[in-house]
Amino acid sequence: MDQFVYRDGELYCENVPVARIADAVGTPTYVYSAATFRGHYRAVTEGFRDLRPIICYSIKSCQNLHILKLLAGLGAGMDVVSGGELYRALKAGADPARIVYAGVGKSDAEINQAIDAGIGWFNIESEAELANLVEIARQRRQVVRAALRVNPDVDPKTHRHTSTGKRESKFGVDLERARRVFDEFGRSEHVRLCGIHLHIGSPVFTVEPYVEAVTKALDLIAELRAAGFTIDTLDLGGGFGASYHDGQSPMPGDYAARIVPLLRGRNLQVIIEPGRSISANAGILLARTVFVKRGGDKQFIIIDAAMTDLIRPALYDAFHFAWPAAPGTRFVPPGRRTDLDMPGCTAADIVGPVCETADFLARDRKLPPVQRGDLMALFTAGAYGFVMASHYNSRPNAAEILVDGDSFRIIRRRETYDDLLAAENQPE
Ligand code: LLP
Repeated sequence: MDQFVYRDGELYCENVPVARIADAVGTPTYVYSAATFRGHYRAVTEGFRDLRPIICYSIKSCQNLHILKLLAGLGAGMDVVSGGELYRALKAGADPARIVYAGVGKSDAEINQAIDAGIGWFNIESEAELANLVEIARQRRQVVRAALRVNPDVDPKTHRHTSTGKRESKFGVDLERARRVFDEFGRSEHVRLCGIHLHIGSPVFTVEPYVEAVTKALDLIAELRAAGFTIDTLDLGGGFGASYHDGQSPMPGDYAARIVPLLRGRNLQVIIEPGRSISANAGILLARTVFVKRGGDKQFIIIDAAMTDLIRPALYDAFHFAWPAAPGTRFVPPGRRTDLDMPGCTAADIVGPVCETADFLARDRKLPPVQRGDLMALFTAGAYGFVMASHYNSRPNAAEILVDGDSFRIIRRRETYDDLLAAENQPE
């Protein structure tokens, strides 16, 4: 699953005790495992190998330039949703022809930037966007390639804030309208509308919604081909799960086992956009306990990381396994479990210093005795962790560290107070 393991009562990332990282660079700090990134990327490529897909890593999940370089070096394409993400992908050395660009509100500047870069596909989310792309490409006398994002109206059974493939979602167009979009734009000289794009939600912890969505997309493709349109690309999107607790998610190969047979021999270039399945288990958030206090019957462990560093618990009630990084041999957790309750553990909430009741990282957990100064690890934080950080309460963003084997390096330095003011420093 990943390379964060307890040895002799102490948490290691690969061969480095995370306490050593905290001593060297302070806390809060995101710690990533290069071997885990490589392993997860390989698991996706191997699972889907028969389809020879283009794997476009969804950089919104974890966007650090050094991690993008690592993945681009393995041959990954990139899934981007903004001019900023495109800029990062190009800086990381990704092959522009293997970049897909989604997003419901691409600005003219962003569209021009993407055409300049020569990206592979625009993933189109509405008729209005497509009309605008046709117009921009016509003015530039260029031909660009696009896939229409379709809502297959399947229920991915995930949090309502991260479900995207229902009929009433703001993304894509519904199946019935898709045919009309092709009738209107499918013969444009400037936008070669040659693909269908799906992304049903994230995380999707079962395979069935994909099977249902792909089946519907194949029916649509057959209908479009019969009507004379050339459809050569099917982008399945991302959303494969990660294990926030042990065994929670199928592995990439398990998704592939059901999806690949549906797509073999269909004459389609398949694209997939995994984010979380590659990055989530590849990172932890490491924090130090500032104080322990009681409030009513509750025990609060106040750490130096906050919702500004990891907002998923506040935003989605998301579960991140939390445990001291050096609990001693008596308290090595037997697994990452929601219901873990070892002898000698007591209930506590783990909270941050921000002035919001929603500033919690973990609730009602049974934890070993924790004292001021103890390191805490929040697991499966590599995806939608650092990338969703804010500066609320004027908190500088955490450092990011990449471990590779026996060594580690800073891939994003801790922000300073001057960084917080940098964009406000205007001449009087
Ligand atoms: N492709 C598209 C078009 C997407 O919108 C997304 C994620 C992905 C691929 C990658 O999904 P993944 O494989 O990472 O699940 N902040 C939320 C997740 C939002 C996902 C947004 N779109 C969270 O923390 O759970």
